[in-house]
Amino acid sequence: MSESTRPVQVLFVCLGNICRSPTAHGVFEKLVRTEGLVGRITVRSGGTGGWHVGEPPDPRTQAHARRRGYELGHLRAAQVGGRDFARADLVLVMDRANLRTVEQLSAPADRAKARLFLDFAPDLAAREVPDPYYGGDDGFERVLDFVEAASRGLLQHLRKTGAV
Ligand code: 4NP
Repeated sequence: MSESTRPVQVLFVCLGNICRSPTAHGVFEKLVRTEGLVGRITVRSGGTGGWHVGEPPDPRTQAHARRRGYELGHLRAAQVGGRDFARADLVLVMDRANLRTVEQLSAPADRAKARLFLDFAPDLAAREVPDPYYGGDDGFERVLDFVEAASRGLLQHLRKTGAV
């Protein structure tokens, strides 16, 4: 469908939707705003697990993000499944376990939409955004570093492919 009639729909997915994917949601959405692309790209996020549905992002996630200028407090965790993957144009997952789950829950026609988010940050050695939930402050900073790099790469990709 042409860019003038329908925005590109990006869905970020992790396990709990309280640490990594809300960070990606807030960081990429801010980039969309600062690049003047509101209305051309829509951003959503969700978790493959349902333990935290309805909760705001983890307080540590919010605090680290806020220090870099990202406000995540309005987000609420949701569990995502096949219908969400059908609606999205790109399903960007944080690790290979997320990728397997998303592929299992996707209709065959939607499977190719799922990609590791760090595919868009080829300069990083890592291919996965490590889960910071059980670790220390450095893990949350690493999530932000990786997500900022991949967000820039994703926007570059969308421009290069003519999606926006
Ligand atoms: P996330 O981190 O997938 O980056 O949101 C997690 C948050 C919570 C849990 C696991 C991962 N949990 O098991 O509750």
